[in-house]
Amino acid sequence: MEIIIQPGAEAATSIAARIVARLLREKPDAVLGLATGSTPLLLYRELIAMKLDWRKVTTFNLDEYVGLPQAHPQSYHSFMWENLFRHVNITKKNVHIPDGNTKDIPNICAKYEKQIKGAGGIDLQVLGIGTDGHIGFNEPTSSLASRTRIKTLTQRTRQDNARFFGSEDKVPHHVITMGIGTIMEARQNLLLAFGNTKARAIAEAVEGPITSTNPASILQMHPVTKLCLDEPAASQLKRSDYYRWVYSNKPDWQKY
Ligand code: GLP
Repeated sequence: MEIIIQPGAEAATSIAARIVARLLREKPDAVLGLATGSTPLLLYRELIAMKLDWRKVTTFNLDEYVGLPQAHPQSYHSFMWENLFRHVNITKKNVHIPDGNTKDIPNICAKYEKQIKGAGGIDLQVLGIGTDGHIGFNEPTSSLASRTRIKTLTQRTRQDNARFFGSEDKVPHHVITMGIGTIMEARQNLLLAFGNTKARAIAEAVEGPITSTNPASILQMHPVTKLCLDEPAASQLKRSDYYRWVYSNKPDWQKY
């Protein structure tokens, strides 16, 4: 794991944006895995401002709520079109978001896995992290080998996400999410985390044991995973001086 600690979310995002932009410039038909939530908003804003060419890019989103109409303002479908896709020249048929309104969830999940494989696999997966360590919507105790499937949200995640819905009872109970096994097959993972509410989950994921009770901890087994953190999110890391030292001594070509 490469731990990149920056003073604030803007600086951490700007490094993440340079990593994504480099991939899109080097590989115009790259396959990107994308995330939702408040964390990647700045990243999407920055990528839009960079005016990259998205025409040949293919995207796969991590997850979607079950039962929310696509047009619902809190569906991840709406989120992605509102915050990224409508601002760039992406080709609509290259966008993939799990269909949370399907009558046949297992079938849609198996198809999603096939589509990812058919596209050649994910080159770079953008990730946030839940306060309980979830990635995608893989809640604690999710199988570390899981594939795209339905999950039931924990009460904590429903409380965390209530701010988007106005109240907790409006947050759906079920979601479709890429599995942890699916995420681990991405060639590169780029996890962003900001704020002290994420500090514990980050410290456990980076310096704790690999355990399904903190799903992000499996990223310790991934060969190319970068974490872009602000100071508050990094505040419980015991070896933060070492991570800072390593990043500041990297050759420039390795930094982004
Ligand atoms: C959501 C998403 C995750 C996201 C996480 C953190 O529930 N499914 O992909 O990383 O929770 O969200 P936020 O960035 O708003 O803190």
